[in-house]
This record gives sequence, C-alpha cells and structure tokens, in this order.
Amino acid sequence: MITVLPLSLLSVWLTNSLNDCAATMPIHYMTVGDPSRRIAVAREDRSSEVGVLFLPGFHSKMASNKGNAIANWARTRNCSCTLFDYSGSGASGGDIQEGTISRWLEESMCVFSEQTQERQILVGSSMGGYLALLLWKQVLKEYPQEATRIHALILIAPAWDMTEKLLWNRFSQGIQNQIWSSGVYNRPSAYGDGPYPITRQLIENGRKHLLFADGWQFPEQRPPIFILHGIRDEDVPHTHSIQLTELLHDGNTRLQLVEDGDHRLSRPEDLELLCAILDAALSSDHVDTRTNDDKNTI
Ligand SMILES: *[C@@H]1O[C@H](CO)[C@@H](O)[C@H](O)[C@H]1NC(C)=O
Repeated sequence: MITVLPLSLLSVWLTNSLNDCAATMPIHYMTVGDPSRRIAVAREDRSSEVGVLFLPGFHSKMASNKGNAIANWARTRNCSCTLFDYSGSGASGGDIQEGTISRWLEESMCVFSEQTQERQILVGSSMGGYLALLLWKQVLKEYPQEATRIHALILIAPAWDMTEKLLWNRFSQGIQNQIWSSGVYNRPSAYGDGPYPITRQLIENGRKHLLFADGWQFPEQRPPIFILHGIRDEDVPHTHSIQLTELLHDGNTRLQLVEDGDHRLSRPEDLELLCAILDAALSSDHVDTRTNDDKNTI
C-alpha cells in the first residue's frame, strides 16, 4: 500500500513537547568484535513487552532529532528504548574510516541480542534502515528462534544496498578509479559536516551484503514493515523505496511518501508522523503472508 501524505493533513507538532531525551539517557559501553570496538548504548528498560531500537544513518548518531523523538515517544508509551552509536560515530570509539557494513551489522546484532530482551520495533534511518533489514535477514538465518522478537520494522528513507547502488554506481569513472587506486574518496557532504570518506574497504565489503543477490526467501510469518520517504530526498531517491516495496512483495509493506520531505525527515511534522507510525507498529501483529489456499493445505 502506498500513500502520499499531503502536508496539510499534518498538524503542527508541539515543539515544547520534544525533550532532549537521548541526551539525558544514561550511556554505558559494550565491547564488540575483533578488533574490538567500544560501543555506546543508551537504554531505558521499562519492562514492556515491546521496545524500540534505533539504528541511525551513516555518519549519524543516536543524539539527534530522530533519536530524541523516539526516546520521547517510548517514554510516553511506557516502552523500553534502546539507542546506540556505530563504531566511529557519536559517542562510540573508533575511526569511521575503518567502518564497513559487516562491522556496523555486527554491532547492531550485538545490541539487539545482548542489550534487549523484549520484542523490538526496529527503527532504521537511511543506512540504519539497510542495517535493520540485514539484521532481520541474519536473525532469520542464524537465530530463527529469535525471529519473533522482531515486532516490526520502520524504515526511514532506507539506503538498502547503499555502498553499491547509492555510492559506487553513482560515482564517475574517475572517482571509482581513485577509490580503487588510493583506497579512499572524500565525498563532500550536503550537511556541512563532511567530507565523508568513502573507502575501497567499505565498497568491497558492501558487495557481500547485497540484500536480494542471494534470492532471499522471506518467511511466511513476518513483521509488518513501514517505510517513510521524502519525495525531495536528494541522497536516497524515493523510487529506491518503491523498488524495495516491490522486492519485499508481501502486499503488506506500507510505504508513505512525504510530498515535501527531504532526506533527513527531521522537521517537527516528520517526527510527528514517525511517532504515529510507531503507534501503528506497536499495535500491529506479525503478518501471515500465506494465501488462504496455502493455509488450508497445512
Ligand atoms: C510501565 O510498564 C511496567 C511494566 O508493564 C509497569 O510495571 C509500570 O507500572 C508502567 N508504568 C506506567 C507509568 O504506566
């Protein structure tokens, strides 16, 4: 189901309700992987059945408008909330140039399995949306008994297959040659916090994580997937989410396009929409994608 949300339908967010929650949540550190990385985790455990876990974007961090909005929503809904930073970003240690999809996925998996016990709504923004899908895929493959712990996925402008489809394929031959020969290309950032170094290691490693390259078979029972994407996104085109919706082909992925939304989707009205989707995700159940005929034969 695809809906385009006109701005007029969105009421104005009460900015004074937005507390700086992520900033006030206590941070602790966990050690992940080899070579080991020190990963900053902020968790508020409210003994709820369903919690929310936020996966930030590339070069982004938990202490952000989205992280705060999620933490604030979790407080009002009495849900456990878990935020973290990838190695090389935010409050976590390490060099972002060492980062790869494998590393950040391993860190995401460790936070999911070691820091949370409840069923989780995974909220992934940009690269975090890609990592949320990879996390789900890995749980299904390696820890199928844990699969029901993934309650729902909320993907904000998901940058699936980011390294290949959104970086490598869009680089000129000259930039591709530079990455291959020198190992890094410093890509300018549109957000004044750049440049973002794009390493050969990041690109090569990403090729091992292409979502649909291995004919991914979805389970019959699966969590509902909500996708939110701005039509004015210049980093990840909204057509990328339309294509993802088609590839997930469960007839139940809900894609909402925000007519005047940009890549960050961090305006007050965007965050309000995110909270409405969190509410929908919280009250949703796993979807049985089998047809009635299939069910009758079992
Ligand atoms: C939050 O949920 C927990 C666990 O169900 C419950 O014990 C607690 O009383 C709730 N707190 C509020 C403020 O509703």
